[in-house]
Amino acid sequence: MTHHYREQIKNIANKYGNDRGYLMNIAQDIVKEFGYISDEMVAHVAEILNIPMVQVRDMVSFYSFLPRKPLGKNVIRLSNAVIERMKGADEVGKAFEKELGISFGETTKDNLFTLLHTACIGLSDQAPGALINNVPLTNLKPADVPQIIRDIKAGKNVSDLPQARVLLNLKKEGEVICAPLESGQAIRNALNMKPEEVIAEINKSRLRGRGGAGFPTAMKWDFCRKQKSPIRYLICNADEGEPGTFKDRVILTEYPDLVFEGMTIAGYAIGAKEGIMYLRGEYAYLLDNLEKVLAKRRHLGLLGENICGREGFSFDIRIQLGAGAYVCGEESALIESAEGKRGAPRDRPPFPVQKGYKNEPTSVNNVETLCCAARILEKGGEWFAKIGTKDSTGTKMLSVSGDCEHPGVYEVEYGITIENLLELVGAKDTQAVQVGGASGKCVAPKDFGRRISFEDLPTGGSIMIFGKNRDLLECMHQFIEFFIEESCGWCVPCRAGTTLLEKKFRQILDGKGTVQSLAELRRIAQTVKAMSRCGLGQTSANPVLTTIYDFADLYAERIKEEDGKLLTFDLQKAMKVGIEASGRTMEGVK
Ligand SMILES: Cc1cc2nc3c(=O)[nH]c(=O)nc-3n(C[C@H](O)[C@H](O)[C@H](O)COP(=O)(O)O)c2cc1C
Ligand code: SF4
Repeated sequence: MTHHYREQIKNIANKYGNDRGYLMNIAQDIVKEFGYISDEMVAHVAEILNIPMVQVRDMVSFYSFLPRKPLGKNVIRLSNAVIERMKGADEVGKAFEKELGISFGETTKDNLFTLLHTACIGLSDQAPGALINNVPLTNLKPADVPQIIRDIKAGKNVSDLPQARVLLNLKKEGEVICAPLESGQAIRNALNMKPEEVIAEINKSRLRGRGGAGFPTAMKWDFCRKQKSPIRYLICNADEGEPGTFKDRVILTEYPDLVFEGMTIAGYAIGAKEGIMYLRGEYAYLLDNLEKVLAKRRHLGLLGENICGREGFSFDIRIQLGAGAYVCGEESALIESAEGKRGAPRDRPPFPVQKGYKNEPTSVNNVETLCCAARILEKGGEWFAKIGTKDSTGTKMLSVSGDCEHPGVYEVEYGITIENLLELVGAKDTQAVQVGGASGKCVAPKDFGRRISFEDLPTGGSIMIFGKNRDLLECMHQFIEFFIEESCGWCVPCRAGTTLLEKKFRQILDGKGTVQSLAELRRIAQTVKAMSRCGLGQTSANPVLTTIYDFADLYAERIKEEDGKLLTFDLQKAMKVGIEASGRTMEGVK
């Protein structure tokens, strides 16, 4: 490394006040400048920040967007998420391989291109998609590839390519998220109340978190507010990494003011002066506009000191960009990451509301939850509580993708049945609907009368539709591969268990499994679910656990009897035989 590089790295670290808490930003800026962060650079950063080198290396090695070795001048990251593959990502991948003369994971000899796979990039409604130098390309076709490569070689900016176009795809506007808001109105209403009254208003609305778990928002804010510490933080979770989810992309593009309004109200309610929006690295292209909106709000007195003229109420927001790790959506991993560390989930208790960011009480809320909060302060808790169902008030932004005529984002009232939703999005001949992403539930036609709601079928927003022509179990297998790729590796049941699960599942899919293999598959799945440390591992076996009964026929088709013939059978009965043979009981089945 030349002296010149050392100087640049010094300047980058200096920009962040040589603060260890900004290690991730420092590494990201180094990658932006040099394309990678080498061992030498890692050592230099450690020296400047006066921390052990292993700490820097540990963090850097965790994130897929922080390469340790030089990549090509142009980095192509093609999404290989399930829906993308259904829509032809494999064929597009082959076209890239052919055109560049390399395989995935490789760089061309002239160092112009590196070709990589990446997980869901939040564009399943316009798949197949890719990020080239962080610019999103959509609706790719194999025939587009030669021209794309020619154009880039000729020096054209990736953002000027015809495929560099993200459609908004907002297909149904509801009354909570997709309505106009006069900036500052909800904040002014909140400031006319005491923080406790704001929380009481949210309580009246019975708002529950939209990030997946459905925790009552008022209760979370109340817990946070009541902590003794004088410093508290508010974090907006914009990591949106669940496969098939892209509703936050639409909200952040179309309604950023509503999100920031909600963050400011949350800050007032819990008593925080600082808010952080944790934005997934894949959405880096949204950053410029979000920063502009923040600057505008500062100018309007909606952020900063004495907001809306209220003496003593100060609140500001910074955006922390992630670096390509799904587990960072889990709130404690997200906090670690925002502190500039690797995104490993923390043990709980303590919960983030007790000890979160910088060990201070922290409320982590989803993008959509914060939008709802702003609207509640505008229109009242009672108004909100009248929408939806008893236990699931309000609306839900759904990201719909897969086999339907109109993929996109739909704001619907809670309580809509799967059947009605399928009608709305133009889906016919549906074999299954995956509700809640890879970690969610695979719903069979017999259950299409069930409702999207916390009390029935909860979802953070992902709805993936599989037509009758799809090999459903292959799709489930791809979900498991996703979890293997994204496991942070901290605990054995997740790290090793998901691999074991994949192997057993593959054996069955390849027609090499027996009835006993099925019982073993179920047992591994139960163990991974029960023993994993965080939500990622605990839900990683869902693709098996939620299909093994409702889609028993698909398993049965691939199971061999001892004489080698395929079996048609009663799965419950067959599993009983398998389980008894392996010395277990049927307890807990189904
Ligand atoms: C592996 C994993 C990934 C997650 N990803 C997200 C995410 O992308 N966005 C989100 O809001 N919540 C995500 N969550 C849930 C968060 O941990 C947390 O519950 C949520 O941000 C709380 O916000 P809410 O109360 O507004 O729902 C994830 C959880 C797990 C276990
Ligand atoms: S369950 Fe998986 S992702 Fe979660 S801590 Fe364990 S290894 Fe990491």
